[in-house]
Amino acid sequence: MNNNLTKELNLEDVLLDTLPNPVYYKDTEGRFIRCNKAFANLVNASKEEIIGKVAYEYFPKDVADRHKDIDKKIIETLGKNEDEVIFPTLNNEIKYYILNKAVYLNNDGDIGGIVCIMNDITQSMKDKNLLIQQSKFAEMGEMIASVAHQWNEPLVELSAQIQRIQIYYDMNNIDKKKVSDFVNDSMIQIKYMSDTLFDFRSFLKPSTVKEEFYLHKAIDEIFEIVGKQIFYFNIDVNFEYKNNNDIKIYAYENELKQVLLNLINNAKNKINNIEESKGFRGLISINTYKNKDYIHIDVKDNAGSIPEEIINHIFEPFFTTKANGTGFGLYMAKIIIEDKMSGSISVKNEEQNVVFSIKIPIRNK
Ligand SMILES: Nc1ncnc2c1ncn2[C@@H]1O[C@H](COP(=O)(O)OP(=O)(O)O)[C@@H](O)[C@H]1O
Ligand SMILES: [Mg+2]
Repeated sequence: MNNNLTKELNLEDVLLDTLPNPVYYKDTEGRFIRCNKAFANLVNASKEEIIGKVAYEYFPKDVADRHKDIDKKIIETLGKNEDEVIFPTLNNEIKYYILNKAVYLNNDGDIGGIVCIMNDITQSMKDKNLLIQQSKFAEMGEMIASVAHQWNEPLVELSAQIQRIQIYYDMNNIDKKKVSDFVNDSMIQIKYMSDTLFDFRSFLKPSTVKEEFYLHKAIDEIFEIVGKQIFYFNIDVNFEYKNNNDIKIYAYENELKQVLLNLINNAKNKINNIEESKGFRGLISINTYKNKDYIHIDVKDNAGSIPEEIINHIFEPFFTTKANGTGFGLYMAKIIIEDKMSGSISVKNEEQNVVFSIKIPIRNK
């Protein structure tokens, strides 16, 4: 090798190793041909060991699979790609990285392979998640009210049953069958109560990784928790997607639920402020559909438009028109949908209706 070239390669090595970002080069077959210290530390191997290996060696299969497809695509198009990757490290810490990839050409102009630079966004994700979790607690007040509603009926039923047993006993009219009926009926009520709590508690946990789930199942689960209360306030709910309920989505499930819950709570608050005597009947409509690149979720209410002078401010933090509002719900919705899921959320008036539209990119498989 000529002397100048050796010097240059050394310089490049020092440069790469000084960089805090993990960097690697792969050939067109996906084998690592070079990397820096930061990358070696990340995968807990030496630079020499890594050469010749493939991503499957160091990353979870689903991550490696997805990147195999991304690599193939950018090699075909000579393009670039930015993607977010989440994976557990060896000591089971969840790490979030942004990967920027590009195709590089050899001296003779052939495609050499792919170069990738990784950016660790774990800390900022953690900060964001903390904020999201805090705002979830703010919406929790409404949910506790809802759970209380849900528990009311079975509690009334249970206390009636317990009193009945006392009466049977006093009348000396108790037998094995009555006791086992009593136990069975009571267990049904208790199971119902514990199911509600289970839904509630699983919602409270943050979702740390994106997962694939059925969108309509998630919506159903939200209504398991808040449905009774909405029903109690005489609000109708229209699921417009009835015949098309198999949309699978790749996202943070509990965070998406949190956003939808806030939209539903906001609509419910507004509807409750309208005098029922005027013959008004509140309606919340939920529609979902999918096109080539996006999954869409629309949440609409019929309880009056948003004044033009505030519509551009409602996503700002602390903006609220309610006496005891936090003004945090829609701001968080924006962070969750736009920052965490690379989607978008917007609002528009349609005469007396307000429509919130969420758009989430479909992951290219
Ligand atoms: N469906 C809606 N219709 C009319 N106005 C709404 C609706 N949703 C939200 N807003 C307006 O946006 C403001 C901010 O909402 P949000 O961020 O959820 O905070 P909060 O509910 O605590 O007020 C609300 O106070 C209200 O003025
Ligand atoms: Mg709100």
